[in-house]
Amino acid sequence: MQAEYWQKKWSNNNIGFHQENVNKRLQQHWPALKVSAGASVFVPLCGKSLDMLWLHQQGYQVMGVELSDKAVQAFFNDNHLPVTQSSRNGFDIYTGVDQARGIELWVGDFFELTPDDLCAYSAFYDRASLIAMNESLRVRYTTHLGSIMAAGTTGLLLAIAYDQRQMQGPPFSVPDKTVRSLLGNDFTVQELDYFSGPERLGNLASRGLETLEERVYLLRRTASTLTTIVS
Ligand SMILES: C[S@@+](CC[C@H](N)C(=O)[O-])C[C@H]1O[C@@H](n2cnc3c(N)ncnc32)[C@H](O)[C@@H]1O
Repeated sequence: MQAEYWQKKWSNNNIGFHQENVNKRLQQHWPALKVSAGASVFVPLCGKSLDMLWLHQQGYQVMGVELSDKAVQAFFNDNHLPVTQSSRNGFDIYTGVDQARGIELWVGDFFELTPDDLCAYSAFYDRASLIAMNESLRVRYTTHLGSIMAAGTTGLLLAIAYDQRQMQGPPFSVPDKTVRSLLGNDFTVQELDYFSGPERLGNLASRGLETLEERVYLLRRTASTLTTIVS
C-alpha cells in the first residue's frame, strides 16, 4: 500500500489493526526462537504495537520502523515512556531513555533501511506487516527483509489466510504456499502453529469473512549463497 494510505489511516485514527493487548502468539512462541537475553530485535512496520513493550520487558533491545510519526509518538506517550529525538540517514529516530532505554523507533520507509542499519540485530518479529502488503509490494517486502537481515537471524512471523474474494485487504490473505514461495529463497520456514475457524475472525467478522486460518512461523535467514563457477 502507498504511504498516503497509511498516513491517512493514522491521521483519521482508523487503526483497527492495533491490538490493545500483547499478542498471545508472540508470548507463546517467542521462546522457540531462543534469542539470547540482551539481543536486538527488529520490528518492521511497527505501528504503536504493545508487542514491542513486551519484547523490551523480556530484556531485548527493540528497533521498530514505521511510516507514521503519529504512531511512534503515540507509542511513547500512551505508555508514558521518556524519549529523545534525532535524525540519521533520512529517518527521524525516537530513542527511549530511562526505563525506555533500549527502544528505538525509526520514522520512515522500511524500504530505505540498509543492511548496515540492521547488522547488530539477531531477531525480528512480523505481526500484520507482511499481510499489510498487497500482492506486488509483498514480493518487494520479503526481498528487502532478506537483504537487510544477516545470516543466522531468526524471526517470528504471524500470517493469516482467507478467501480473498470475500474481503479486500489489508490485511491480505497470505496462504502457506505463498509464505514459502516469498521467503523460501532467503529463509528456512518452519510452521510452529496453525489455527483455523470462524472463531479466529475477531473484528474481521464484520467485513464479510466466513473463516480464517492463522499460522505462526519460525524463520531463519540462511547464509547467502555464492555460486562459484569452476572452469
Ligand atoms: C497493519 S499495520 C501493523 C502495525 C503493527 N505491526 C501492529 O501489529 O500493530 C501496518 C503498519 O505499517 C506501516 N507501514 C506501511 N508501509 C510502511 C513502510 N513502507 N515503511 C514503514 N512503515 C510502513 C503503517 O503505517 C502501519 O502502521
